[in-house]
Amino acid sequence: MYKAGIAGATGYTGFELVQLIQRSEVHAAPWDYPLISLQEGMARAGEVDVVFLCLPHAASIEPVRAFQATGVRVVDLSADFRLADPAAYQRWYGVAHTAPDLLPQFVYGLCEINRAQIKGARLIANPGCYPTSVNLGLYPLAKAGWLSDQVIVDSKSGVSGAGRQTKLQYSFVEANENLTPYNVGVRHRHIAEMEQVLNRVNGQHTYRFIFSPHLLPVNRGILSTIYISVPQGVTEQMIRDLYAETYAGEPFIHLLPAGQIASLRHTAYTNRCAISITPADPAQPDGPDYIIVATLDNLIKGASGQAIQNFNLSVGIDETLGLL
Ligand SMILES: NC(=O)c1ccc[n+]([C@@H]2O[C@H](COP(=O)([O-])OP(=O)(O)OC[C@H]3O[C@@H](n4cnc5c(N)ncnc54)[C@H](OP(=O)(O)O)[C@@H]3O)[C@@H](O)[C@H]2O)c1
Repeated sequence: MYKAGIAGATGYTGFELVQLIQRSEVHAAPWDYPLISLQEGMARAGEVDVVFLCLPHAASIEPVRAFQATGVRVVDLSADFRLADPAAYQRWYGVAHTAPDLLPQFVYGLCEINRAQIKGARLIANPGCYPTSVNLGLYPLAKAGWLSDQVIVDSKSGVSGAGRQTKLQYSFVEANENLTPYNVGVRHRHIAEMEQVLNRVNGQHTYRFIFSPHLLPVNRGILSTIYISVPQGVTEQMIRDLYAETYAGEPFIHLLPAGQIASLRHTAYTNRCAISITPADPAQPDGPDYIIVATLDNLIKGASGQAIQNFNLSVGIDETLGLL
């Protein structure tokens, strides 16, 4: 039995963690869990085995330092410790990193790719939701060296992806029956995690991402449509075999058979990532060769479920516990 503390339990990812942990048999959390201040939580860090930090970026850094000093395991769901390079953090997030000394101690917790490093890790940076869908959708191709330099990603996110904040564009009347692109034509900060992961999978590479996120009027879910080209001679069957081999035995990767396309329903309320592979129109020889669609639930595989998977891996218990 393990005890968990959750910072930010009143937010969407924090409360999702409370719910996931509560239904689990291996994590202790009675429904009437005590809600205490962050300061009190930091003072009582010795009482728990792990702290999940579900705070906005930049708000996580000092709590991470305080918890880390007590020796408790930390899984940080914010972006504060995802980028290995503090200069990159400043560039993408617009603020200087105040704990660059801690960055080398963090493991990037994308379970299917970094499983070996996560085992035994005490400090884990939980990946972003958009990058989890894109990185899992492209990892086999990048690993094989078959991914085209230019990758076009069109992603949609449910409104909970923005957190429990009040901004006009997230209000019901603005978001409902609408589909709103945002940060189109600029380099969205989540590209940093795509580059950090995929550029290093097979030697050193520089992929160019065009990433267009959209606000979709559903509560939860991410769907990334990814347009790629592959080297001549690489067939659809070779790609299917590559994905099947790469993800063989992965409990949360759901590869769809030929002819099916991943949708939000494939992954809603689960810790799964569903991936489909579809050949593009052969009558367009200069267009992309394949369209990969990757979907997940932003609050589970994109956040709190992956955080539990990371914790399970880090302490050496079955990584699916509490998640199936
Ligand atoms: N939402 C997603 O789909 C998703 C997916 C992946 C990663 N993430 C990341 O996970 C983190 C949490 O996201 P969320 O969607 O759960 O956000 P959220 O719904 O806005 O919740 C934020 C939580 O942090 C608390 N908080 C806000 N500012 C704070 C501060 N300065 N000090 C201490 N506590 C503070 C809030 O408390 P109050 O209630 O008192 O304001 C609330 O409990 C973010 O870094 C986000 O980028 C989110």
